[in-house]
Amino acid sequence: MSETHRILVVDDSAATLEVIRRNLESQGYHVATVGGVHEAVEHLKAADVDVVITDLRMPKVGGLDLIRHIRARYPRCGVIMITGYASVDTAVSAMREGAEDYLAKPFTDNELLASVARTIEKVRARKILDAESNSVSREPPPGIVGASVVMGDVYRSIARAAANAATVLITGESGTGKELVARAIHYQGDRASEPFVAVNCAGIPEGLVESELFGHTKGAFTGASKTRAGFFLTAHHGTIFLDEIAELAPLTQAKLLRVLEDKEVQLGGSERTRRVDVRIIAATNKDLAGLVRNSEFREDLFFRLNVLTIELPPLRDRGDDVLLLVRHFLEKFGSLCVGQAPQLTDRALAALRQYHWPGNVRELENVLQRAIVMSDDGVIDVANLPSVMQFAIPGVDDVNSTLAQIEQHHIRRVLAGVEGNKTRAAEILGIDRKTLREKLKQMDSA
Ligand SMILES: Nc1ncnc2c1ncn2[C@@H]1O[C@H](COP(=O)(O)OP(=O)(O)OP(=O)(O)O)[C@@H](O)[C@H]1O
Ligand SMILES: [Mg+2]
Repeated sequence: MSETHRILVVDDSAATLEVIRRNLESQGYHVATVGGVHEAVEHLKAADVDVVITDLRMPKVGGLDLIRHIRARYPRCGVIMITGYASVDTAVSAMREGAEDYLAKPFTDNELLASVARTIEKVRARKILDAESNSVSREPPPGIVGASVVMGDVYRSIARAAANAATVLITGESGTGKELVARAIHYQGDRASEPFVAVNCAGIPEGLVESELFGHTKGAFTGASKTRAGFFLTAHHGTIFLDEIAELAPLTQAKLLRVLEDKEVQLGGSERTRRVDVRIIAATNKDLAGLVRNSEFREDLFFRLNVLTIELPPLRDRGDDVLLLVRHFLEKFGSLCVGQAPQLTDRALAALRQYHWPGNVRELENVLQRAIVMSDDGVIDVANLPSVMQFAIPGVDDVNSTLAQIEQHHIRRVLAGVEGNKTRAAEILGIDRKTLREKLKQMDSA
């Protein structure tokens, strides 16, 4: 160790404190121990601490409160949560509050040391990122359109992710641009000239996943007539993009975890392992933390993948980005048309702007592409848009309508925007489902 790291251990059990102290001191760490959160808070005021290791359940104030305190005041301090009541829920809450890692009791000496080393590494990476953060750009990377504040945050995360090699998890509804973001990270980073290999985890037939990912030797199974490198080795020195990561079967999840830990792959049918150096970007439109809670996704793999997270907002939360994207796609597809660039009528534009976009940017792209094909004079009007969107036109004659008419019109518009999903529509309208049903019944019978 080139510098001595200072570690504060917080636990109400004197025996635990002693074991941890001895273990860490034998590795050259500088260790202080306290018996509760209040003492910990006092200690932090007086001394510089690199990592706090804290018990979860302690009399009076618990460990989660301490994590919150540290996160608010000492952003550069690392936190490891120890819990004797290991449950995924507490672990997930600890990570959510900003702990770097957690340890379930009983843990071995090696587990403790590995966790401390990992945490120090994360803190170090964060210091570098903090130092850079003032200069990190909120400008869109090439090919990504949008000027909303929420997308500005995404651009900044892309720039940060591109500047280091940590694993990235990209989440967001379908069609929000997850793959686009993964590519932007790769092509802005120092691996840009190396391969970017995109793998759709849901698209590989179940029996083939492992040989596709990790490769196999000739004769490894019936039909394996040649040795195959697999996606990981193909991506060597570059980036592998694991799309729809939630779809991986449990066995494959376990193997993937091993590759992440050992940085080597074992080809099917061979004892030999090969080192791989790949940057991993994973994406999902599922709630991965929720799947972990239901034991449908490995918790340890989730924590491994979730080092940097980029959450892509749905298109309906991006405000006028819809208009910028409309212009972008009109230019893109318009350049393929003969004659004049296609035009949108104001009513069509209003409809596009009002719509709820459940399919996000991908849906917008498809709608415009189709509309351009359907319009024969280069002018796109409401009639060229899909029928679900036609109710999204704002009332043209609001000043001469009755309240009831406006209400009906609005209900229809909202319903159209969510493809008839009544639960969603009721949410947006701020009424319960039953009231919505009654109103629809009245509208039908009127
Ligand atoms: N901000 C954006 N600017 C320009 N084009 C975009 C933007 N976001 C998405 N797109 C385009 O929309 C389409 C869908 O994007 P992408 O495939 O990256 O989405 P995704 O989140 O991976 O979707 P899915 O979950 O369906 O796989 C692509 O053609 C992409 O180029
Ligand atoms: Mg995708």
